[in-house]
Amino acid sequence: MILSASKHTAGLTFNGVIGVLKNVLTPLLRLAVLTCFLMCFQSVTAQEKVPYTASNTALLRSSLGDAAGEQRIDALLHKMTLEEKVGQLVQYSAGQPTGPGTGRTDYNDMIQKGEIGALFNITNAHDSNAFQRIAVEKSRLRIPIVFGLDVIHGFRTEFPIPLGLAATWDPEIVQKAARVAAREASATGIRWAFSPMVDIARDARWGRITESSGEDPYLGEAMARAFVLGYQGERLSAPDSVAACPKHFVGYGAAEGGRDYNSVEISEHTLREFYLPPFRAALDAGAATIMTGFNSLNGVPTSANPFTIKQILRKEWGFRGIVDSDWTSVAELIPHGIANDPASAARKAILAGVEMDMVSSFYHDTLANLVRSGQVPESAVDEAVRDVLRVKFALGLFERPYADEKQEAGTMLQPESVALARAAAERSFVLLKNSPLGTGSPVLPLSSDSKNVALIGPLGDDAAVMLGSWSAQGRPEDAVTLRAALIQKLGPDHLRYAKGGEITKASDEQLAEAVNTARESDTVILALGENGSAMTGEGASRAHLGLPGRQQQLLEAIVATGKPVTLVLFSGRPLTLPWAFEHVPAVLAAWFPGVQAGPALVRTLFGDSSPTGKLPVTWPRSVGQEPLYYNALNTGRPAGNTDLTKPPWEGSDKFVSRYIDEQNSPQFPFGYGLTYASFSYGPTQTSSAQLSAKTLNDGLRDTKRSPDSDLTVSANITNTGTRAGEETVQLYVRLEGTSTAQPIRALKGFQRVKLAAGQTQRVTFRVGAEAFALWDDQNKYTVEPARVKMWISPDSAHGSEATLDIAK
Ligand code: BGC
Repeated sequence: MILSASKHTAGLTFNGVIGVLKNVLTPLLRLAVLTCFLMCFQSVTAQEKVPYTASNTALLRSSLGDAAGEQRIDALLHKMTLEEKVGQLVQYSAGQPTGPGTGRTDYNDMIQKGEIGALFNITNAHDSNAFQRIAVEKSRLRIPIVFGLDVIHGFRTEFPIPLGLAATWDPEIVQKAARVAAREASATGIRWAFSPMVDIARDARWGRITESSGEDPYLGEAMARAFVLGYQGERLSAPDSVAACPKHFVGYGAAEGGRDYNSVEISEHTLREFYLPPFRAALDAGAATIMTGFNSLNGVPTSANPFTIKQILRKEWGFRGIVDSDWTSVAELIPHGIANDPASAARKAILAGVEMDMVSSFYHDTLANLVRSGQVPESAVDEAVRDVLRVKFALGLFERPYADEKQEAGTMLQPESVALARAAAERSFVLLKNSPLGTGSPVLPLSSDSKNVALIGPLGDDAAVMLGSWSAQGRPEDAVTLRAALIQKLGPDHLRYAKGGEITKASDEQLAEAVNTARESDTVILALGENGSAMTGEGASRAHLGLPGRQQQLLEAIVATGKPVTLVLFSGRPLTLPWAFEHVPAVLAAWFPGVQAGPALVRTLFGDSSPTGKLPVTWPRSVGQEPLYYNALNTGRPAGNTDLTKPPWEGSDKFVSRYIDEQNSPQFPFGYGLTYASFSYGPTQTSSAQLSAKTLNDGLRDTKRSPDSDLTVSANITNTGTRAGEETVQLYVRLEGTSTAQPIRALKGFQRVKLAAGQTQRVTFRVGAEAFALWDDQNKYTVEPARVKMWISPDSAHGSEATLDIAK
């Protein structure tokens, strides 16, 4: 069956949105969102030249701005003292710290005095209610606290890490996962998830690539929307909705050298073309809050950056929710070197538009005096307080400040949630390689009759590591390991297990025992990789991307036994393992799959479920290639047909953009992933050979009309395998002859097809003007005359090319 062709086709077209609505929203929500969407279309004139569809969509869609609410905000603001106003802008961690702290513990007293607006890292209803009772029953104005948490890929029911969720290329399942997370988190009083992280991540050295949706803005937009719709649900005021918080605004993922917190230089052009779109998509989906970053951007820290916050976020996009700082990022303006004391750091942050000070306490300590001394206008504080109150009203906190302690336990780990975690994990696996050992059929899937299987490796039975980094309330005892699931499947007598050492070290005896275990078995499953919590995520950048400890040695020794080996790779990023990809017949990228790791893997390894994941990041051959991403520019000296496997001194071209000792191509391209079926792609065909830039621009600017062109692009896809299969078909575009150089390919659509063995299906993408729009040399969003190349392909490196022209 083919899913609606308009579903993930290019751009946020009118028809595209209708398609999404049909598929994912309930009838009631459909009506509400459609109304808002139409309002957006009507509210913007062609002359405004705003990018994408409209401004103020966040305000409209998240019901942050109805008139009654604004009156309540005015009335409350009117009653507040300056200190109480500042209090609403102060946020502390009251539980497990995720960074250096302030040393404060006098929260009860501060809450009673109205000095705290938000708390986070409290993870049970009893404790959040205790704090809330002080705010609501003892403080003068009874303004409730909003409780937040890093709910990143689940709350108690842990789903795959976000990079794994992105590998599903399935926004619907991501939205459902976020809904489960919202339901569980809100049961404890948490109404604010510091998620999704929508930073574009092009560098596998950066530990936080694990939290991202990878390198592509189009896929990033789809995932951003899915998370936000899932967290915020049908109404933000529903007790089981949590406010989303796209982060880190903006550019954090481009840290130089992949080293966390490092400086970032991104031109405005690149910022607008690659880094901003997922934020915009999250806000268009209604995200009520946003978080700035730790990084400086072109010399100005993002937590005091008027260009990104005031100009882009507020003025161009009309955002009216909370702008939160990151953990102590206001205090960090001092080491950044743009402030010499707490007062000037606070002044720069608030004047740039950072409204809530997470943890650093600088707003608490200095802001009232800054206002009294005239260094900060009170209107800046008022504006920030308005946004905080707007979100609190929208969440319904004034009406329902407390969590229901009786409901809390029953909300966690419900059977449907666990089943969804298994389904999401299955969809996240990316089959990187599946060859026969010698001749015959590929190693995977394993036969269900296997009676003598070895499981080897430090990741085979480690429940905690399956949860990955930022695992909220995920508990090891809730996670099922691969070993446990294999025993369940095969029976204890048919599985041999050897740990083969720890992730970071192994003794000779452990290695020898593992080799003996392999020798005694018919087939080997090797479970190798990183430690999810220690080696991925924040503060976990790596300069070496191989297997830690002695795992490479273990791998080579096991392969040398001559047994058929399947490598299940657990990692929060692509790892550079050229030896493995050459010598191991089957490799499955499993990321960190969450609580249902074992069952999902066993179903996949034994063929009850076929892997369908596709890479959301380019997989490098070696660290020296990083940052490596598919949507790069061509350069003036592309390597073209140069044989890059040879160094220049053996006769290949030297003066092209290349390395003398490594290929330019990745190990596996963005979008790549095998299944147990196989697919062939027919030629890409377009319905028209020429389009008009003027018509496309009219569509882009005139928001009263559909911005679609009439163009369709299609190709026949055939399942050439022997079993039914599912394939994510991708649409890529390249523009040539434009005022700014454009990527050699850019993803502009994707859709899933399910085909029976031997079946052929025509897959059609309807392509809107946004697929051809770019940021020009004046930083304007427009369609220019161009030569266009298009591909319908299984990944970013293959497919047949179709061409057309965009005339004036
Ligand atoms: C991270 C944020 C996170 C915050 C609160 C920071 O260290 O950068 O992503 O939301 O801590 O825990």
